[in-house]
Amino acid sequence: MAEISSYLLAGGGKRLRPAVLLLAAGAAGYRGAGAIRLGAVVELIHTATLMHDDVIDGADTRRGRPSANTRWGNHMSVLAGDWLYMQSFQLALQERNFRILDLLIDLAQHMVEGELLQWTHLGRIDLTEEEALDLAFRKTACLFSGSARLGAILARATPAAEALLADYGRCAGLAFQLVDDLLDFTASAEQLGKPVLSDLREGKVTLPLLYALAASDSAARVLVAHVLADKEFGRVSAAEITALVSDSGALDRARQLACDYAAKAKAALEPLPDSEYRRALLSIPDFILDRDS
Ligand code: IPE
Ligand code: IPE
Ligand code: MG
Ligand code: MG
Repeated sequence: MAEISSYLLAGGGKRLRPAVLLLAAGAAGYRGAGAIRLGAVVELIHTATLMHDDVIDGADTRRGRPSANTRWGNHMSVLAGDWLYMQSFQLALQERNFRILDLLIDLAQHMVEGELLQWTHLGRIDLTEEEALDLAFRKTACLFSGSARLGAILARATPAAEALLADYGRCAGLAFQLVDDLLDFTASAEQLGKPVLSDLREGKVTLPLLYALAASDSAARVLVAHVLADKEFGRVSAAEITALVSDSGALDRARQLACDYAAKAKAALEPLPDSEYRRALLSIPDFILDRDS
């Protein structure tokens, strides 16, 4: 476990969720070590879900290096992910606060449900926008939202302040996942540190693709269906799919939705008093929109 966890930690990552938690706690007036501990908790949960996710997706790289499943195999990765989940709960228990445990358990279950739902939706070309957004919420936005809410809980913020910070996290998280879906079509693997054009090959119909399908004719649907059926580019090339998605205006439409959520995230913070923490929180949605890795 020591070997696997230090490998994962050395891989870096953006550490966005702990940043959101620390800043939300600060913006709500909390000063103390609890935010650092809970920042570690949310990053550990995130790391555990990535380890399991890479096993499920059969992904060979993560954070610019071989994924844990590539180095240690699926068995070790699943067990190491389980261990990290437990480690995170043990750390969270140090706060001696049942609300925090309640929230973390609820959130971890939502994330697992997201992966399960995604698995059952795999290859479904008729996914609705609502279903795609529900997946984005469960997979990503609920951890962002929970991170911001944990900051508010530590600060013993008013229910109103807690709700707006949680809403900030939810909107920022949805923008984050939408950008992630876009980058899968537009970025390079070197840039991202993980495989690209992989969603479709994995059978995942994401929002940019849904928008492209909605704007295209039945010939285009056949191309997409081929890739979903084959689980690889062959009969249909990757270039054909990227052309389909960009020419249909789907990338712009998905980008616009990401911008809308980023704006909503910032608007949620309006009632909070000005502070350097609040100003830093305001910059995160812009970072999310501008990120290229
Ligand atoms: C990757 O999250 C998984 C998604 C929610 C799309 P990040 O892009 O935040 O991963 P790291 O921690 O920076 O590697
Ligand atoms: C995101 O799933 C990881 C979780 C939140 C469980 P994806 O499969 O969409 O993300 P990447 O592209 O592997 O990072
Ligand atoms: Mg994945
Ligand atoms: Mg996945």
